Amino acid sequence: MKIAVLPGDGIGTEIVAEAVKVLNVLDLSFEMETAPVGGAAYEAAGHPLPEATLKLAKDADAILFGAVGDWKYDKLERALRPEQAILGLRKHLGLFANFRPAICYEQLTHASSLKPELVAGLDILIIRELTGDIYFGQPRGRRTAPDGHFPGAEEAFDTMRYSRPEIERIARVAFEAARKRNKHVTSVDKANVLETFQLWKDVVTEVGKDYPDVTLDHMYVDNAAMQLVKKPKFFDVVVTGNMFGDILSDEAAMLTGSIGMLPSASLNAGNQGLYEPSHGSAPDIAGQGVANPLATILSAAMMLRYSLNQPEAAARIESAVQAVLAQGLRTADIWSEGTTKVGTRAMGDAVVAAITKTTITKS
Ligand code: IPM
Ligand code: MG
Repeated sequence: MKIAVLPGDGIGTEIVAEAVKVLNVLDLSFEMETAPVGGAAYEAAGHPLPEATLKLAKDADAILFGAVGDWKYDKLERALRPEQAILGLRKHLGLFANFRPAICYEQLTHASSLKPELVAGLDILIIRELTGDIYFGQPRGRRTAPDGHFPGAEEAFDTMRYSRPEIERIARVAFEAARKRNKHVTSVDKANVLETFQLWKDVVTEVGKDYPDVTLDHMYVDNAAMQLVKKPKFFDVVVTGNMFGDILSDEAAMLTGSIGMLPSASLNAGNQGLYEPSHGSAPDIAGQGVANPLATILSAAMMLRYSLNQPEAAARIESAVQAVLAQGLRTADIWSEGTTKVGTRAMGDAVVAAITKTTITKS
């Protein structure tokens, strides 16, 4: 089992170190190799996704990814910005299926921005298409407007597009996932305005006919944004395009209390996957040892389940995370009165302890 470890920037290095620590106590043998990515790679090699890092990722069964980005790189030309590393990995490895679960843990219900009764027991799986849509559509660029409201003015444009096979394969991923859950898929589109999403809706409807046991409904993205905060428990599996999925998955994350708890998986057709926390590099708290490592630790669990075929080890990690929450341990982002505030390392140590069932030593 070959794992490429790409910690990246900001809190990335701190949280990935904890996930690696957890993986190392599982009595499984991994071949792990670390490489720089994002701003760290730009500093080291002049590019956010150097050839060597891309090769390591391609040759691995799975990639454990931290986070990339820092405001200090905002002035670089787009091709050199840290975000290009993650976009490049998605594109070069064909990681089209992005799983973003939004689960509200019982102990963290109060941390949600919504009333507890709306989110208690919440368990949504957002499946975001990750290699198409306006993120990758060509042409794009800046030019002098040939027509429009202000001909001759400077303008910028991007292209939203989806092909039938791209929609078909992500729809199948969603229906298959729903079969293992509550058998309900909500496809989110903007078919009332956009051609791209009329095709999306048509294709998802057709694919849905192969899954008569799964309930399919369609929702416009603006309404979906509203329903997510009005009646979030309506949703089971949400399937949507790259852009809408980017936005809705952040919204769904907030329902659960902290984005610091949410893992994600990005898979290609061969089940090779990239696993990363749903949150970013948080440069404002980097290096302070206060970041929540649980999203990354839970991402490692997803990696064991989806790419490495180790469901038992995955379950061990997940119950260890439940256990540390039950013990009342909290990083700053999820802390509340009456619980114990711990740092990044102590949280990782507690998960390790829960896995190995030894007693927790205070660090
Ligand atoms: C995400 C992030 C990325 C995206 C950025 C960092 C390019 O927001 O994974 O959701 O927009 O996809
Ligand atoms: Mg995002």
